[in-house]
Amino acid sequence: MLLKIVLGFLCGIRALAADNNTAQEGPLPLLLVSFDGFRADYLQRFPMPNLNLLYSQGVLVEQLTNVFITKTFPNHYSLVTGLYAESHGILASNMYDPVSHKYFHTYNDTDPMWWSQARPLWITAQDSGYKTAAMMWPGSDVTIGNRTATHFLPYDSTMTFQQRLGNITNWMLGNKKEPGVMFAALYWEEPDRTGHIFGPDNTTAMAKALKEVDENIGLLMSELKQNGLWGRVNVLVTSDHGMAQCSAERLIQLDDCLDPENYTLVDLTPVAALIPRKDPELVFERLNKCHKHMTAYLKKAIPDRLHYRNNERIQPIILIADEGWTIVQRGNKLPRLGDHGYDNSLPSMHPFLAAVGPSFRQGYRTSSLQSVDIYPLMCHLLSVPPQPNNGTMNGARCLLADESCWDVPLVVGLVVCVLLVLSFITLVFRLMSHRRSLGPRPFQRLQIDDDDDDDPLLE
Ligand SMILES: *[C@@H]1O[C@H](CO)[C@@H](O)[C@H](O)[C@H]1NC(C)=O
Ligand SMILES: *[C@@H]1O[C@H](CO)[C@@H](O)[C@H](O)[C@H]1NC(C)=O
Ligand SMILES: *[C@@H]1O[C@H](CO)[C@@H](O)[C@H](O)[C@H]1NC(C)=O
Ligand SMILES: *[C@@H]1O[C@H](CO)[C@@H](O)[C@H](O)[C@H]1NC(C)=O
Ligand SMILES: *[C@@H]1O[C@H](CO)[C@@H](O)[C@H](O)[C@H]1NC(C)=O
Ligand SMILES: *[C@@H]1O[C@H](CO)[C@@H](O)[C@H](O)[C@H]1NC(C)=O
Ligand SMILES: *[C@@H]1O[C@H](CO)[C@@H](O)[C@H](O)[C@H]1NC(C)=O
Ligand SMILES: [Zn+2]
Repeated sequence: MLLKIVLGFLCGIRALAADNNTAQEGPLPLLLVSFDGFRADYLQRFPMPNLNLLYSQGVLVEQLTNVFITKTFPNHYSLVTGLYAESHGILASNMYDPVSHKYFHTYNDTDPMWWSQARPLWITAQDSGYKTAAMMWPGSDVTIGNRTATHFLPYDSTMTFQQRLGNITNWMLGNKKEPGVMFAALYWEEPDRTGHIFGPDNTTAMAKALKEVDENIGLLMSELKQNGLWGRVNVLVTSDHGMAQCSAERLIQLDDCLDPENYTLVDLTPVAALIPRKDPELVFERLNKCHKHMTAYLKKAIPDRLHYRNNERIQPIILIADEGWTIVQRGNKLPRLGDHGYDNSLPSMHPFLAAVGPSFRQGYRTSSLQSVDIYPLMCHLLSVPPQPNNGTMNGARCLLADESCWDVPLVVGLVVCVLLVLSFITLVFRLMSHRRSLGPRPFQRLQIDDDDDDDPLLE
């Protein structure tokens, strides 16, 4: 703690002294990169030399508190809107809309009605006159509010990271006909894919997948350097959610509790969404007592902290499995060795955030941030007026080079520093007044006399 305070004191001096480098003419381009399913503690468990190099020159947020449910589409849309799932309307990988009677699946996602409750940054940034790009980010090929990003490519799992990156850098550079984009979002599906197939506890499989992810981060840095973009753009590297280890020993079978005739299933695991056919209370009672590792909620009783209630696409009953448990209807077959979607307060569900570029501090590290805070941060970096959102700039301010930041150790360090200076001044004053009253004399005697003189003052 003391060390931290001393460091805070030193950093304070540095931060106060070295703010000049951020004097820029207008905002810099911003690149947002997501590596799907990058659980925060992979950073400690596996060597990531390139990612390490990236955040050592910038900032690292060790854990992001993401939004419920901790699935890919809800969280990717939260990153670019700053909204909880209940407010942006992309609530799960499988949805039913009771107003239009339509069904949503991640492989059939381009109907604009699903996305139109919010506006992603690649669209609002165009209102500030910027060109934008979205490479396979969920929603990037959907016409939202009649628009798409200036450049985008529809999802294609066969396109390599290098190809996606090559197109992104070309769009950022621009050409004679078209200026470079100011905001670009880039999506990559690892380490999520490997995490699902082998489970996050399989060190062999995860080490291999994360080595490739780290090589892609290396590629990103060298590509930006080659094109003269490195040091002239801000880069955010983050993810949507983590991953939990599942097991065939941890299955919850709904058919054991309730006849499938009694409900319509919209989504299954680890957060089930269902519509009772008749007698909702009775259906709820059955499900509520079904399994000790599954919690049932009537829609109106879903806890506030999940921000997962105020939307017509949330079904009358939801079931939430405990970490590492899988909900199935029947049978003993485990669908995946790794899964996510669980309660967003679980550390295993949290991703991380690394950022580098002229607007960020260097070598700064902090333990946590809300993922909805990333949207107002990006709007700030781009000087784009944010849409109404659920984030704040308070959390992210400390990451920035040109913001004063009320870091607690830093404040304590500054207070200690001020007290030291004040005591020093007091001491000097007292020595000087002694000198004046007693006149010049040998230094050694001064101390002896001092003690005598001081005693009455102490009483
Ligand atoms: C501060 O920044 C300005 C503009 O970039 C530059 O001209 C000036 O030399 C800098 N001053 C110091 C002391 O670094
Ligand atoms: C895709 O979803 C739309 C509604 O959003 C629906 O009309 C259409 O039938 C679906 N297509 C497939 C192949 O499921
Ligand atoms: C969307 O675009 C179409 C044609 O491009 C136009 O007819 C329609 O009015 C637009 N809708 C909105 C809401 O701007
Ligand atoms: C851009 O993407 C296309 C595929 O759509 C690919 O063939 C091409 O190589 C990519 N461009 C670069 C510069 O990587
Ligand atoms: C872990 O993953 C490897 C593939 O990388 C696989 O060969 C091995 O069987 C897996 N181990 C377990 C215990 O699942
Ligand atoms: C469940 O379904 C069965 C068969 O359709 C029916 O007899 C029973 O009343 C239903 N129970 C509830 C709680 O809906
Ligand atoms: C989130 O933001 C939206 C848009 O401003 C707002 O309607 C909603 O009430 C907010 N949610 C919470 C929990 O504050
Ligand atoms: Zn994901």
